[in-house]
Amino acid sequence: MSKEKANIAVFISGRGTNLRALILRSRKKNCNYKIAHVISNKKNAAGLKFAKKNKITTKIISQSFLKIEQKNLAKILINKNIKFICLAGFMKILSPYFLNFFKNKIINIHPSLLPKYKGLNTHQRALKAKEKFSGCTIHFVSKELDSGKIIVKKKVRIFKNDTLRKLEKRVLKEENKLYPLVLEKLVSS
Ligand code: GAR
Repeated sequence: MSKEKANIAVFISGRGTNLRALILRSRKKNCNYKIAHVISNKKNAAGLKFAKKNKITTKIISQSFLKIEQKNLAKILINKNIKFICLAGFMKILSPYFLNFFKNKIINIHPSLLPKYKGLNTHQRALKAKEKFSGCTIHFVSKELDSGKIIVKKKVRIFKNDTLRKLEKRVLKEENKLYPLVLEKLVSS
């Protein structure tokens, strides 16, 4: 008999290509996780549609996300036996109160080679600084922005004639490949 798949929650705010990549991988028979719940702080986040299409339950959190709401969401996730939470383009900072419920269980993907270019507009800043490489990083989430323990980084070359769009597309492609692989490794470790 095959082993039960680990339950994963994904937090998004928008487009959801990383969510999509995580879901697509999870549908493979030999994959060790399944996406059990998708949370968004934006009710129109495009990623929600793909989640619903795949019959994954979704939840919208408020912009204020006060302590009582955080506690209720934590309860829901604990009841769903969530093994890891993946932040995938989730543009809201989780409070230490919420993080405390899931110590070393929340991971994030960021479009730069951390610790370089934390925060927003990473590609723009890397291009402006005439970097030769950019890339993406998957890390554990801590209370400081984009600063927790690094799990893995993937370098992506920056070319002389690169535009923001070209670079973003090249990095995103790597993000979408890397996130499911790293999650599977974490689940099995
Ligand atoms: C991705 O590039 C992700 O690395 C970034 O937002 C994008 C979301 O794309 N996350 C951050 O900047 C977090 N600090 P997606 O919605 O298509 O997955």
